Amino acid sequence: MRARWEAEADLVVVGTGVAGLTAALDAHALGLRVLVVTKAALGDGNTRWAQGGVAVVLPGEHEQGDTVDRHVTDTLTAGAGLCDQIAVAQIIADGPAAVTRLRKWGAVFDSGEDGRLARTREGGHTAFRVVHAGGDATGAEVERALLAQARDGRIAMLDNHVAVEALRTPSGAVAGLLVLDGDGVPGVLRAPAVLLATGGVGQMYQVTSNPEVATADGIALALRAGAVVADLEFVQFHPTVLYMGSGARGRCPLVTEAVRGEGAVLVDGNGSRVMVGVHPLADLAPRDVVSAAITRRMNEIGDDHVFLDATHLEGSAFRKRFPTVYAACAAVGVDPAVDPIPVAPAAHFSCGGVVASVDGRTTVPGLYAAGEVARSGLHGANRLASNSLLEGLVVGSRAARAIAADRAVGLLGDPRKAELLGSLAAAVAERDVLQRTMSRHAAIGRNGDGLATAASVLEKSTVVRPLGTRESVEDAALTMAAEILLTVAAERTESRGCHVRTDYPNRNDGAWQRSVPVRLDAAGRPFLFERPVLGGVA
Ligand code: SIN
Repeated sequence: MRARWEAEADLVVVGTGVAGLTAALDAHALGLRVLVVTKAALGDGNTRWAQGGVAVVLPGEHEQGDTVDRHVTDTLTAGAGLCDQIAVAQIIADGPAAVTRLRKWGAVFDSGEDGRLARTREGGHTAFRVVHAGGDATGAEVERALLAQARDGRIAMLDNHVAVEALRTPSGAVAGLLVLDGDGVPGVLRAPAVLLATGGVGQMYQVTSNPEVATADGIALALRAGAVVADLEFVQFHPTVLYMGSGARGRCPLVTEAVRGEGAVLVDGNGSRVMVGVHPLADLAPRDVVSAAITRRMNEIGDDHVFLDATHLEGSAFRKRFPTVYAACAAVGVDPAVDPIPVAPAAHFSCGGVVASVDGRTTVPGLYAAGEVARSGLHGANRLASNSLLEGLVVGSRAARAIAADRAVGLLGDPRKAELLGSLAAAVAERDVLQRTMSRHAAIGRNGDGLATAASVLEKSTVVRPLGTRESVEDAALTMAAEILLTVAAERTESRGCHVRTDYPNRNDGAWQRSVPVRLDAAGRPFLFERPVLGGVA
């Protein structure tokens, strides 16, 4: 594919979510020429849809007795033995400064009656430490503040361009990208550093809280550039996504966990509580526990949804505190002050991704990753609620500093010597087949036979296609990520966090308290490592 145009920068950031924009702003402040590229419109990523908030223990604004160490402990507990303890400690410790700076940049968080920041609780948190904005519109406010800052700083942004493939130097460093515009016209962005902040994989499933851009693009691009991924088998299903009927497809509205933080409880169609007796934190148990319990209950009673009863928040209380959820409920004729809200688990967050340090460095020089696309070690087998905006803010900033430092000491490749290696074609499964297969066999409650069936269905429906359109790039990425997920989920003969095996219902620390790093072999097939590849991935 011959590029019709070229542009140059010191850093290309792919994605306009919290991690990408934070990295872009910091890199710009450090004197780098930054170009931000997104395949959709600015701000069409996952960040906008985050409702609950940012988990952070702010000096002078925290619940009495809460500490950064307690936040670390809750994160490790939720992560079910697979977090990288050092990464967790570093990211959580950097959180207060990151949120304080975000407020200086204009993000406005909600205040309580005493004028101090309002805080709520979500699943897995042992304290009220989740700060929120616009009631339940935290992501939108964070994104608004970052985009305003980026526009003020005149950071160059290229929308409607999908990243297809990394350019690499003869020594294998990443030093640029091939992109396609909406008409499939190719262009080349030359830069010694590329930061992937492309979000997650939600569109791998039929129903998800994620927008349509969440198609695993960064994972596939990084793998083809020689990087390593890990923990892809841990896809977090949010317990309470608004049930829109059995035929619903694509993004469905989230019903934030903060609704349970404010006292709502899960009940089944018979009115029986779902979480009583399941976990000491009951409805505020970690997300993997709640989603699995709902799935078990739905199977027991032959239903495809349960209900979230928030009717204790009478009158206009619900509408004031949760305007986004209220509007979504109203659109389907549900009044949460009167009616229990129909909900079901749906694909929400990829705990795994491109193996990267807390500074965003991957195993390939010149290639960096931050936010949901990255496996930083913060989430382990199950992400603690509202830790992802925090991760984006902290790792985005650290990555900018790492890139500037790597550039200053000459660690990066020469973009003038970088070119496309390999063919621009990849295996592509039909999206509907892929989504149905993954939803049926690789959601909550997997087993060896189902995973094998899914792998075979995918393989049979796969054809090699040129990566000449945004759609083919996305479908190829979903296909590659799904294939790896199925392979590693079949290998992991235990249940842990978001990976629930009905044929291996117990956690097996002796064999499986480790991540399984994966890269592509010379034939482009997944290759599973037995050894650590970067600190913490063991
Ligand atoms: C929620 O508000 O329940 C979602 C927030 C998150 O995924 O962290």
